[in-house]
Parts: sequence; structure tokens; C-alpha cells
Amino acid sequence: MILPDTIAACAEAVLRTADATEKTTLSRACVQKWRDTPDMPIGTAKPPLQPARPAEPELLSPRDVPRRRPGTPAGRIALLHAIAHIELNAVDLHWDVIARFTHIPMPRGFYDDWVRAADEESKHFGLLNARLSAYGSHYGALPAHAGMWRAAEDTANDLEARLAVVPMVLEARGLDVTPGMITLFEKAGDDDSVAALKTIYAEEVGHVAYGSKWFHYLCGRHEKDPKPAFHHLVKTYFHGPLKPPFNDEKRAEAGLPLDFYWPLAEEA
Ligand SMILES: [Fe+2]
Ligand SMILES: [Fe+2]
Repeated sequence: MILPDTIAACAEAVLRTADATEKTTLSRACVQKWRDTPDMPIGTAKPPLQPARPAEPELLSPRDVPRRRPGTPAGRIALLHAIAHIELNAVDLHWDVIARFTHIPMPRGFYDDWVRAADEESKHFGLLNARLSAYGSHYGALPAHAGMWRAAEDTANDLEARLAVVPMVLEARGLDVTPGMITLFEKAGDDDSVAALKTIYAEEVGHVAYGSKWFHYLCGRHEKDPKPAFHHLVKTYFHGPLKPPFNDEKRAEAGLPLDFYWPLAEEA
């Protein structure tokens, strides 16, 4: 596999690859090249506004995606498929940060964090697609939510907004809901899915932490108070209130203080 010479060009190549397995394979190869090449340039790129995606799954409005009872095998397949869709989207979200904001000078450690997160998202997709295979299914077999890329498009011109909305709101939400999913697969005796979800859960704490760390870094650069800046950006760019219950413990581990998200929660 011949890979581009800069990390931004690698990122653009991943974003422009439609097939999910090809995308995640290229993603992991680019990560390896970054790790093997200490002087690899950041470079520049022209990322598409929306990443290339496979012809399947069919993308539907969330209200049109059929609901299946979670206690059944069909329900478990649907849940694994929905999470696989989120993980594939996350692969693109991380590479999009790398490709889109090269005009903002950032330390190399910023790229190290995002490259690592992209690698983990690629692995997460593979773990879930393997679980779908074990159930005789595959990614693309069911319809999936359209509109997952909306947050990326809304924040395409503002790195602080991107960090506030994607890792610090959307990925933090993953920390809230994943323990319930793990319990569901434990009850079904599906140990392999439990193991996959536990890996994802542990690594997602890091992704939220990267978001919080670099958000605070940029606030410091511009002498902004992070908490009101976060509230302003989420109210501007995220549609609707945040939904409790929150996983306060894991959010704290990821560097998200209570007074960042509780004031944005919907009234109970
Ligand atoms: Fe993930
Ligand atoms: Fe993530």
C-alpha cells in the first residue's frame, strides 16, 4: 500500500475511501506510518465536506430506522450495527480534524492524540463488524441513522466548536450509555460482545480527554475562560439540550467537570 507523505494527506485519503473495510485498513496503515516516521510533515489537505461512505447501509432519518426489541438476537444485531455505524463515523471524525484545521498551528502532540484516536475507532469498527459476522450479519445489512455527520459540518470552520461538540458532547454521551449496553449483552451471555464493548468503553474515555485537553489549550491561547466558552459553543452548535443521566465518574476521569455539562442538561 503506497501511503501519502503527510498526515493531512493521509487523513484526506481515508475520508475519500468509501468501503468501510478499506477505510479502516487504510486508516490503521496511516497510523503506523505516522508512528514509524517521527519527522512526518503535517502538510495540508482539501477534505471533502462529507466523507465517502459505502452504498450500504441505507441512511434513514432516526425516526424511520426500525426498532427491535433489545432482548432478542435481532435486537442485539441491530444494536451492534448501530454502534458499528457510530464507530465508522468516528473514524472519519478524527481524520477530519487532522485534515481540516492545519492552518491552526498546533503542537505535534495534538496530532499524536488524534491519530491514536483514529486508530482506536478503526479497531472499534472492526471489533463490532466481527461481532456482526458472528451473528451472521455484516455492516451494511441494516439501515442506519443519517445525519451523523451534521456536527462535523456545523463546526467545519471552528476547531474550538468541533472539540466542544464532538469529543466533549457526543463522545461523552457514549460514556453515559455504554454501561447499559454492556449489561444487555451480559444478560444475553454474549461474552465476546461484552469484551468488545469494554475495550471501546475504556478507550473512549481517552477520546473525551483529548477533546477536553485541547479545548482548554486553545482557550488558554486566546485567554478565554473555558467554562463559559464551552457553554456558548454548545448552545450555538449543538441542537437541543444534553440528556441525563450522566456518567459523572467517567466524565470526571476524562477531564469534563460537572459544571461544564449540567447547566446544559434538559430539565428533568
Ligand atoms: Fe469508538
Ligand atoms: Fe471515540
